[in-house]
Amino acid sequence: MKFFVDTADVAEIRSLIGTGFMDGVTTNPSLIAKSGRKMSEVIAEICALTEGPVSAEVTATDHETMLKEGRYLRGIAKNVAVKVPLTEAGLRTCKVLSDEGTPVNVTLCFSANQALLAAKAGAAFISPFVGRLDDIGQDGMGLIADVVQIYKNYSFRTEVLVASIRHPIHVLQSAKLGAHVGTMPPAVIRSLLKHPLTDRGLEAFLADWAKTGQSIL
Ligand code: G3P
Repeated sequence: MKFFVDTADVAEIRSLIGTGFMDGVTTNPSLIAKSGRKMSEVIAEICALTEGPVSAEVTATDHETMLKEGRYLRGIAKNVAVKVPLTEAGLRTCKVLSDEGTPVNVTLCFSANQALLAAKAGAAFISPFVGRLDDIGQDGMGLIADVVQIYKNYSFRTEVLVASIRHPIHVLQSAKLGAHVGTMPPAVIRSLLKHPLTDRGLEAFLADWAKTGQSIL
């Protein structure tokens, strides 16, 4: 399972480089707004930090302008994946950009039928939002199970990118279901590292080691 970090904070991304568990980056207009920076600059900077795909989202709602924005964003760097919303205009744009060889991430997916349409339109990634479904009392992970199953049934190459991940259980369930990617805030990625028995065990090993008076180097 690939891990993408869901942020436009360059310092946070830089701090995860070299850990071996970060495979790409996703952004959205809210995250760009939170960064307080110009979108083209922040996307260029992020793309230089990672070889993995960096999702940059269009903000137009009509097909023609979305297409222009998508081509512009793709022009920023070769690892940009253009993110489009799951609307009719978004899927038309997905089809054209995908045919041109641009990877497209179709976002704001809340149903399995929407995911089916995105795969047919050639999406490289589909982003079902699990946390936002949970927020309104619906089953976010149930949607992931359905989409994984449907894509398998028809051998779609579209990758299931679990988005709106809020906590480690979402990550665990995504991995058990065979989702291809999870995108999550840096704090959620780091929370996966933690276990109290790891901390306690390390403390005991180091205390015993200190008693030996040895040093490895
Ligand atoms: O980037 C899309 C998604 O991951 C947003 O998550 O927490 O704002 O629902 P959230």
